[in-house]
Amino acid sequence: MKFHVALVLTFLWSCQRTNSPFEFPPIKEPANNRTSPERIDLGEKLFFDSLLSSDSSISCGSCHQPYHAFSSPQPLTSGVHGSLAKRNVPVLINLAWSPYFMFEGGLPTLEKVSLSPIQDAIEMNLPFPELIERLKSHSEYPSLFKKAYGEGPTPSSVVRALAAYQRSIQSTQTRWDQFVTSRVELFNDAEKKGWQLFMGKAKCQSCHPPPLFTDFQFHAILPYDGDDGRYRIDPRPAMKGAFKTPTLRQLAFSAPYFHRGTAANLDEVLNAYASTQNSNANVRLSKEEKAHLVAFLLTLSR
Ligand code: HEC
Ligand code: HEC
Repeated sequence: MKFHVALVLTFLWSCQRTNSPFEFPPIKEPANNRTSPERIDLGEKLFFDSLLSSDSSISCGSCHQPYHAFSSPQPLTSGVHGSLAKRNVPVLINLAWSPYFMFEGGLPTLEKVSLSPIQDAIEMNLPFPELIERLKSHSEYPSLFKKAYGEGPTPSSVVRALAAYQRSIQSTQTRWDQFVTSRVELFNDAEKKGWQLFMGKAKCQSCHPPPLFTDFQFHAILPYDGDDGRYRIDPRPAMKGAFKTPTLRQLAFSAPYFHRGTAANLDEVLNAYASTQNSNANVRLSKEEKAHLVAFLLTLSR
């Protein structure tokens, strides 16, 4: 089965952009994993194959569901044996530009990220040697690996293919992208006012700057809930309960929000900003302003 993201979420793989003050930075691909259609297709097949989990019940796509912007509609998901993950499933969008991964930023490349859920006891719980055996005895995989990487299935080619696929999941052509590129008429009044609030009084852009709508930094927004977040790697007091700023693209599909999925909708997100102890993020908005801001946020989804 093929899940071409372009069809599911009107993502575009790339685009010609002109006149935009918000250019996307160039993508840095690792020298040993330059993209190609064969690599992306192989990675896509692996991503949705439950052969990657110990009891063949779960694929990456069971938690990172394409229709939900590659996140999950549940606050917390369970892996093999039904054990619950600690954190909400993040969207996998525009990761080609992310300098590091996971909520605490502990992994430096997409190739490394793809290694961890497969062997993780809660998520897929499959030792790599066993995975390689399964792939080698499969009827299609050996030749697909050969075409994509010039070798049969190996741990390195598995994680490179998964990374190549994930780098191809891009959201670059939303209504907002068209609005700032040239088509001012696309926004209605509420959306324009929301965009102004976002860039001004509401202070959102200081951590969610366009065009990626994340600063890739770590901030504590919610009251401490026992999850140390970034503090586990960077033990400064400000990092206690701090998490990587998520992108705001494709929000319409990725509820619930925040690192434990505690906000069911965007109104609840804005209520959290009204009561946060983080002075850089604390902002009180009127009911009308909230409606404008939400109208704008949804222009980043399609
Ligand atoms: C059981 C559910 C589950 C499965 C299966 C799963 N993931 Fe995840 N994934 C998560 C959760 C939860 C997180 C957040 C973990 C954290 O940051 O602590 C995550 C984080 C990630 C991230 C980091 C995103 C970012 O913005 O930093 C990537 C990339 C990723 N997963 C890719 C994969 C791939 C590839 C597979 C399959 C090999 C996979 N995941 C399988 C639940 C899952
Ligand atoms: C000081 C930095 C900062 C500011 C300012 C800020 N954010 Fe955030 N935002 C974050 C961080 C960090 C998270 C993740 C917090 C967590 O999960 O604990 C987040 C999460 C979110 C989420 C949830 C996304 C998801 O996928 O879970 C939304 C929506 C959001 N912010 C919108 C906004 C809006 C709208 C504003 C302006 C009113 C704003 N943010 C201001 C840093 C910031």
